[in-house]
Amino acid sequence: MAKSNLTNKGNSNNAEKVRQFYNQNTDNFIEVYGEIIQAFRTTNVNEYLDYTIKSANLKSGERLLDAGCGICGPATYFAKKIQDVQIEACTVSDIQAEKGQANINKNNLNSKIHLTCTDYHNIAEEYGKEQFDVVYFLESFGHSTQKNILIDACWDVLKPGGRLYIKDLFKRLSDDEWEQLRINQICMDIDKGYEYDIANLSSVLDKIRSKGFILNFVKVPEVDLSEFEHLTISNDFQNLFNIAKIESWDDYIFPIDFYEILATKPTINNLDNMHLYFMNK
Ligand SMILES: C[S@@+](CC[C@H](N)C(=O)[O-])C[C@H]1O[C@@H](n2cnc3c(N)ncnc32)[C@H](O)[C@@H]1O
Repeated sequence: MAKSNLTNKGNSNNAEKVRQFYNQNTDNFIEVYGEIIQAFRTTNVNEYLDYTIKSANLKSGERLLDAGCGICGPATYFAKKIQDVQIEACTVSDIQAEKGQANINKNNLNSKIHLTCTDYHNIAEEYGKEQFDVVYFLESFGHSTQKNILIDACWDVLKPGGRLYIKDLFKRLSDDEWEQLRINQICMDIDKGYEYDIANLSSVLDKIRSKGFILNFVKVPEVDLSEFEHLTISNDFQNLFNIAKIESWDDYIFPIDFYEILATKPTINNLDNMHLYFMNK
C-alpha cells in the first residue's frame, strides 16, 4: 500500500468525518455486506459486478481509478476478470486501506492493483493529469460534500476520451409538498447516519455537462427484478448497528433512487468542432 495522504484542500469537505466513520464501522460492514459495500446489488453480488463491468465498459488494457474503493472487493474482482487491467484504488479510511491491501496480497494481485489511502478530492495532485481511461465511483461519490470540486478533479485525471462512471443513490423528487418534506427529512437521517450527502441528480448532471463531459447515459441499473437483492442487506445493517435505523414505518416514504451515470471527456474540446465529438470515439 502506498503512503497515506489525507490533507485536503482547504479542509472544507467532510473527508475526516468519513474516515472516522469507516474506521469505526468497516468490520460491521464486512459482517453484513461482505467485501462489496454496496446497497443496490443482486443476490449473487458477483453478477452485479459483472453487470458493472459491462455497463461501465471496463476493458483490457485500460487504467482505472476506483475512487472510494472500500476494502477492494470490486477492484480485486475486476482485476481477476479483466485481462491486463491496471487499477489505482483509493479510500479515505486507513483501516479499509489495510484490509484492502491484505485482500490484494491474498489474491496475488499486486501487479494489477495499487492502493493509496487518500482523499479522492485530491486525486489530481495524487496521480497527476490525464492518467486514467476510467474513474469510477461505486456508492462512494455521495459521501462528498464538494461534488463540483470532485467532478473537476475527475476531469483533470481523465485522459481525453476517458470515462466517468458513477453508481449511487440520489434524492427522490415528488410533486407533493408533504412527501417532498418527508423525503428530505429521511435523506437527512441517512446523511447523518452514514456521513453521506445524498446527491441531487440534476445538480450533478448540470455540473458534468457544464464541465464539458458528454453525457452518455443516466439510467436505473438494469437488473432483473428476480435477481435484485431488495436492499435487505442495508436494512439488516441499519437495524443491527443502529445506523439510520427506521424507527417508524407509519409515514415512511422511500427517499432515494439509484442511478448509473456514464460521461465521456471528449477528445475534441474546442467549441468550433464540438459537433464532431461522436466521430472520435
Ligand atoms: C459505501 S463504501 C463503497 C466501497 C466500494 N466502492 C465497494 O463497492 O465496496 C464508500 C467508500 O467511499 C470511500 N470514500 C468516501 N469519501 C471518500 C473520500 N473523500 N476519499 C476517498 N474515499 C472516500 C469510503 O472510504 C468507502 O470506501
